[in-house]
Amino acid sequence: MTTVSKFGRKEAPAKAGKEKEARVFLVSPYLQLGQHFHLLKQSLEVVFHSLWGDLDLRWSFSGAKGGGLARNQVAVLLARDLVKVHGQPDHYRYRFLLNDNSCPAGAPFRYEVLHKGKVVFAENGRAPPAPAQSWRLAVVGDIGDGSPGSLATAAKLLQSAPNLVLFPGDLVYDRGRFSEYQKHFFPVFNAQPEATSGAALLCQVPSVAAAGNHDLGTPRQPEELDWKKFPDAFAYYLFWSQPLSGPSLPGLKETLYKRGRNRKKLTAMYGNSALDGSSFHFRFGMVHFIVLDANRHMDWSNEGLRAWLAGALAAGADADFRIVSFHQPPFNSDSKYKIEQRMRLICDLLEEGGCDLVFSGHSHLYERTYPLRFTPAKKDSRGCAVMRPDGQVPGRIELDKGFSDKGVSNEDRPGGVIYVVSGAGGTLVDAKHLPTASQFTKKLNWQENTYTVIDFEPGKLVCRQLNLAGAEIDRFELTKRR
Ligand SMILES: [Fe+2]
Repeated sequence: MTTVSKFGRKEAPAKAGKEKEARVFLVSPYLQLGQHFHLLKQSLEVVFHSLWGDLDLRWSFSGAKGGGLARNQVAVLLARDLVKVHGQPDHYRYRFLLNDNSCPAGAPFRYEVLHKGKVVFAENGRAPPAPAQSWRLAVVGDIGDGSPGSLATAAKLLQSAPNLVLFPGDLVYDRGRFSEYQKHFFPVFNAQPEATSGAALLCQVPSVAAAGNHDLGTPRQPEELDWKKFPDAFAYYLFWSQPLSGPSLPGLKETLYKRGRNRKKLTAMYGNSALDGSSFHFRFGMVHFIVLDANRHMDWSNEGLRAWLAGALAAGADADFRIVSFHQPPFNSDSKYKIEQRMRLICDLLEEGGCDLVFSGHSHLYERTYPLRFTPAKKDSRGCAVMRPDGQVPGRIELDKGFSDKGVSNEDRPGGVIYVVSGAGGTLVDAKHLPTASQFTKKLNWQENTYTVIDFEPGKLVCRQLNLAGAEIDRFELTKRR
């Protein structure tokens, strides 16, 4: 897979035949926060892949200063990169920026992709909310298998009308390949009007994604980076346009680069900084989000990484809530995954940094802990918890069983971080993963597909876990009046 700036090479995509001409999009338009969202807070990106090199985008929004509709705003073409992917025709990836200071926060907008002045795609979206506005977040992970459960979950996500969707990893099974996105992800979550199944969600609602173990190459990375078998792996870095506010620590990639050809291939595909792009932070409304790469090539005991995370949490000090998301949960009751405790290495930072909620996936179930504080049994010379070779991080777990779940006042605040696994978005746990509630488990559900909906208003959030029939599986509230 090679992406090259339009200015970098002269090659054009293969000449389109009649059949290809009829198919404008290899990947239909979808909304992303974009690489500059942490700087331009109200600006979204429209991303799509096409064989055609001469597409434009215009947009309009309501509620402009002076009233009425601001028509035909020019979207900024950020990039039109030539993409060479094994198994796909050479094509362009477009990234357009919807940026206009006069577009009010939360305003509905319409965007249109044009070919020689003719509209070839049109969809509606909503601008990100202002800090004082109420808004809705939807969360669900482990979605990318194309199963009936994922299709039904996608439909429910769309019905819930969120302003933002957060996917805590395992976006496509089995190995994060471009071809797998085409089979299991976009048809389910970005279905187009002519489709007979799937939901037109991502074209209307911006989404962010943590990278799961299945998203970055192999489930048992890094030893299985086999480019012959998986030549279109690591498509995460191509499809997700997310804030470039992450750490830049090239030394941490050495595990992934262990083999010389891995370094060569990855650098050729994504440049030197690509792998830094899977951890980032941003503000959406009054909530500060931090998304982390929790895969094995990331050593979260590294001082530089820990300093970056502490800084990212501190950057959310004036937000109403701080929410952190990564794929592999530090606390879960999945019988196979419960010993994968690598992310307990950052519990001290989450607690000291005022993290309210953590969303993970990996286990294909729903689980919420009591508000929790963790003290590791052993610390290294840098003060970081020590992980055993088998991945376990033993220590003392303190639970706030007095938290009412109502969060009705500042006095009724949880005494610790609440860890949520929302990974029931596709195929559910099988016999190898059947959970048994742990000491820290407040709520556990593994028998049905469920997803999380959080409603934010200034100083308050209401978090609900819903099944596909709309029944409430779990609910709690947090209040932080200033
Ligand atoms: Fe996973």
